[in-house]
Amino acid sequence: VDIAIVGFGGVGRALLELIYDKKDDLASEGLDLNLKYVINSRGGTYNPKGIDLMNFINFTGENRDLNSYQGKGSKPASFDDIIQNKDVDMVIEMTPSNLDHGEPGLSHISRALAKGIHVITANKGPILLAYDKLQDLARENGVKLGIGCTTGGALPSVNAGLIDLAGSKITSIEGILNGTSNFILEEMENNGLDYDLALKKAQEFGIAETDPSMDISGLDTGTKLLILTNVLMGENKTLDDIELVGIDSIDLDQVREMAGQNKRYKLIGRSIRTEEGLSISVKPELVDRDNLFYNVNGKDKVVRYISDTLGDLTIIGGASGVRPAAASILRDLINMFREGV
Ligand SMILES: NC(=O)c1ccc[n+]([C@@H]2O[C@H](COP(=O)([O-])OP(=O)(O)OC[C@H]3O[C@@H](n4cnc5c(N)ncnc54)[C@H](OP(=O)(O)O)[C@@H]3O)[C@@H](O)[C@H]2O)c1
Repeated sequence: VDIAIVGFGGVGRALLELIYDKKDDLASEGLDLNLKYVINSRGGTYNPKGIDLMNFINFTGENRDLNSYQGKGSKPASFDDIIQNKDVDMVIEMTPSNLDHGEPGLSHISRALAKGIHVITANKGPILLAYDKLQDLARENGVKLGIGCTTGGALPSVNAGLIDLAGSKITSIEGILNGTSNFILEEMENNGLDYDLALKKAQEFGIAETDPSMDISGLDTGTKLLILTNVLMGENKTLDDIELVGIDSIDLDQVREMAGQNKRYKLIGRSIRTEEGLSISVKPELVDRDNLFYNVNGKDKVVRYISDTLGDLTIIGGASGVRPAAASILRDLINMFREGV
């Protein structure tokens, strides 16, 4: 399978390392991944015969100017070359998530799909804003769109809903969908760190988004919850339809006081359909020891679905971080390959 990587930041780099580390496992699947393009905001590199992974990984350890990569047979390239040459089976799109207009990811994804190239993306913006249109485009062009990384990285969430709850009507989605805020709350409770220090630690661990305000304000949780709601509950909601409260509304004293009562705050996203309609919210909630979410700690996340015919399903885990996020992209890729891509 010939691939192009678009957006070579933390997740992109982790993905290349993972493909290298897992090459024997991939080969045993019959999957031979041939990397032809890597593109970032300033340009990129292209090798029609395939880029030497280790050589490229070593080069980019010290140099972010991909145009200047001198690997044998490699030349400078841009995203347009991927579209014009049409010599890859799959584009893996990992540029920053923009929730207002979805760019540059939205154009990358639509142009690749329109050219009959499969796409896997980690980018929440285009999926939040245009999932239905992109799916239609994929269908019209006989290709697939993988979005497993957009709703909690390694946590099986949107794919579990699509695959394992197929045929049921989902009436409720609840979750802790942001590892950074969950990690911060735990650091406040267990290590007595104030909010700023806990955030700094999350950044040192590389789990916070490039702009951590998205994690803290509940916007990241809201985005993931909306994608799940729109994709799995057949809705077409926007961020304006959500009540959004972040963890910045809680201080260390409150966390300590509640810990004394065996309760803890969790940032919970919730979409619930009742006879009155659908309510969608993201806010810190107090949970006690009996609640399933009480022990979802550290970088972990959780999603809980209630459906009419397949019952009540809770999935816990999916630690945050660039390697687990990259692994969730590889998971989509392997599953597409198994389905015959
Ligand atoms: N980090 C995580 O754990 C995680 C988990 C799940 C999903 N995600 C999503 O995955 C995506 C990537 O995350 P990340 O942490 O790897 O981000 P990042 O470190 O900020 O990297 C983003 C990359 O995109 C490149 N880029 C920006 N504009 C571009 C353009 N117009 N054309 C081509 N490339 C462009 C950047 O180029 P430069 O290097 O030149 O700046 C950089 O290489 C984001 O959408 C994020 O929301 C991340």
